[in-house]
Amino acid sequence: MITLPFFSIFETSTDEALEEHPLIELRGVDKAYQTAAGDYPVLKGVDLSFQAGEFISIIGKSGSGKTTLLNMITGIDRPTSGEVWVNGTPLHKMSESQMARWRGRNMGIVFQFFQLLPTLSILENILLAMDFGGKIPSSERKERAIHLLDLVGLADHAYKLPLALSGGQQQRVAIARALANDPPVVIADEPTGNLDSKTAESVFELFNELVAQGKTIIIVTHDSALAKRTHRTALIADGEIVNEYVARALPSLTPAQLLRASRKAHLEQHEPGTIIVQQDAMGNDFYIVASGTVEIILQRAKSSDVVVGQLKPGQYFGEMQLLHGKRRSASVRASEMTPVEVYKLDYQTMNALLEESNATREVLERVADERRAQNRAVLGD
Ligand SMILES: Nc1ncnc2c1ncn2[C@@H]1O[C@H](COP(=O)(O)OP(=O)(O)O)[C@@H](O)[C@H]1O
Ligand SMILES: [Mg+2]
Repeated sequence: MITLPFFSIFETSTDEALEEHPLIELRGVDKAYQTAAGDYPVLKGVDLSFQAGEFISIIGKSGSGKTTLLNMITGIDRPTSGEVWVNGTPLHKMSESQMARWRGRNMGIVFQFFQLLPTLSILENILLAMDFGGKIPSSERKERAIHLLDLVGLADHAYKLPLALSGGQQQRVAIARALANDPPVVIADEPTGNLDSKTAESVFELFNELVAQGKTIIIVTHDSALAKRTHRTALIADGEIVNEYVARALPSLTPAQLLRASRKAHLEQHEPGTIIVQQDAMGNDFYIVASGTVEIILQRAKSSDVVVGQLKPGQYFGEMQLLHGKRRSASVRASEMTPVEVYKLDYQTMNALLEESNATREVLERVADERRAQNRAVLGD
C-alpha cells in the first residue's frame, strides 16, 4: 500500500453533493477548431458524466478527439457550445484567471507530451506546481516533492534536468507533478504510452491506489487491455461518444458500427414491476439493459409463471426475434425493486449491422440457442 502524505477531496464538496450529482458532467459539448479551411468540428454533441471515485478510461483512434475532450474537462480549452460542470462549478463560465487557479488546486494533469520546464530540475518542476497551487504549506513542499518522486521511482534523479532523463522517466515525473497539490481529480493523456510494460504496470498500480483512496482518475489510453481494468471505458469515434451499454453488449462491432448503433439507440424507462415485452406478442426490436434489473418470465399453460433469468446492465434481450422473426418467446419485466432503463434498437438497424458483422451474429445466435434450450428445459418440451 502506497501512503501519500496528504489526501483531500474537493474543498467545497459535501457528501450529499457527491452522491447526488456526477462529479464531472459534459452536456451537449461541441468543439470546432478554426482553421484556414474553415471550421473543423472535432467534438460533436458530447454528453458524458463521471461519478466521484471512478477510474475511467477513454479510448479511440488517433485524431478521434481524445485530447480535445480532456482539454474540455480540465478547462484548458473551451467548448464551442455546450456546458462543462465539475463538482458544481460551471467551467464554461469561468474567466481565464479563475480557471487557472481552480485547475491548479483541483486537477492533476499528465500531458501527452509531458510539458516539463526544461531549465528547471525535476524537483523544481514539482515545487513550481506547488507554488502555483498554493495548497501545500511551504514548509512541507520539498519533503512532499521528494516523496512523490520516490512514488514513481525517481527520487535519485531529483536534481537532474528533464532532458537528462529518458522519455519514460519524464512521463513519470509528469505523473509526480500531477499529484503535487493532492488534487481530487487526476487526468492523464496516454500516461503509459512511453513506458515499458513493467513500468506501465507500476504506474497503473499507483493509479489504482489513488482510486482506492478516493480520487477520480481519467486516463486516455491506446491499450485496450489496460482500459478493461478500469471501472468504465468511454469509446470516442470521430468526435462522438459511443453509447457505453451498446459497446458492452456488442463488443465485436467496429467503433464506426457502434457509433451508428448508438445514434439509433432509444432510451426507454420502465417503472418497477412493469412488462417491457410480452410473451407471444409480435416484435423484433432489440433491447440492451442500461440500469436496474429485468426478469425473464415464461408463462406456462398449465402452471404458474416462472422466472428463468435476470439481466443486468450491458446484457440484452430480443435476439431470438431479431434472428428468427417470431413471436416473443418470453415476457421481460422490470424487477420489483428498481426502475429500469433500456436502450431499444430497431430491427432495420440491427439487421444491417448483423449483415456486416458475422462475429456479432455468431455471438447472438449462440446466446439465442442457449436461452432456447433453457426455456425448453423449464417448459419440459
Ligand atoms: N488546435 C487545433 N487546431 C486545428 N485542429 C486541431 C487542433 N487540435 C487538434 N486538432 C485536430 O482535431 C482532431 C482531434 O485531435 P485530438 O483531440 O488531439 O485527437 P486524439 O487525442 O484522439 O488523437 C485531429 O484531427 C486534430 O488534427
Ligand atoms: Mg491525443
